[in-house]
Amino acid sequence: MPLCQKYNLKVIEDATEALGSYYTEGFYKGKFAGTIGDIGVYSFNGNKIITTGGGGMIVSNNPDLLKTCKHLSTQAKSNEKMFYHDQIGYNYRLTNMQAALGVAQLEQLESFIQIKKENYFKYKALLNTDNLTILDFRTDIRPNYWFYSLFIKDLKNETKESVIHYLEQHSIQTRPIWGLINDQPPYVTHQTNETSKARFYWEHVLNLPCSSNLSAQDVDYVAKTILSHKGL
Ligand SMILES: Cc1ncc(COP(=O)(O)O)c(C=O)c1O
Repeated sequence: MPLCQKYNLKVIEDATEALGSYYTEGFYKGKFAGTIGDIGVYSFNGNKIITTGGGGMIVSNNPDLLKTCKHLSTQAKSNEKMFYHDQIGYNYRLTNMQAALGVAQLEQLESFIQIKKENYFKYKALLNTDNLTILDFRTDIRPNYWFYSLFIKDLKNETKESVIHYLEQHSIQTRPIWGLINDQPPYVTHQTNETSKARFYWEHVLNLPCSSNLSAQDVDYVAKTILSHKGL
């Protein structure tokens, strides 16, 4: 933020994955993710901590920026002339029905985080061996515990795909973390930095079931099944 202030740059915070998280220490103590930059954005896609089925939200303390965002996301139509587009606009607005769903979801955000927190500590206690651990969150924040990442230190003769397959056979759906951008066809020839750590984590991390619908028994079952894998 100081650097951007110095050079008069605007900061857009993609706070999608961190909705509900805030700093508990330091300069930004008490500040929620998405409220530090000039603009904060959140996705409410189906896999997020709260959802409107699709779409998202922009927040800002700057009314002029919000006005511009609203204008561009509603096809840049001027009010005076109904079908006059004064700029290249986009049809990106959330519908009223989605917004109503979003408001109801937002009311439940804290209770979702509470469930996710309980399940996180349960997973963490159960999956704690020399070879398996649940990745930590940083300590200067109250995280939203959106998902739980199982770190497999030594894959031995397994791969993350074979572990996913094993769990699938026990009716447990797990996911790898996001693929590396430099492995995606449009960017494959555009790599400029070394990414050995990212590749290591891509191979060694699995995301466990994390829905706020998950019961304590479900968490027990997932952990027990992972621990029953003879190759880990
Ligand atoms: C940080 C972040 N931003 C944006 C998105 C995507 O949002 P949308 O699907 O609404 O385009 C994701 C999806 O996982 C995300 O993790």
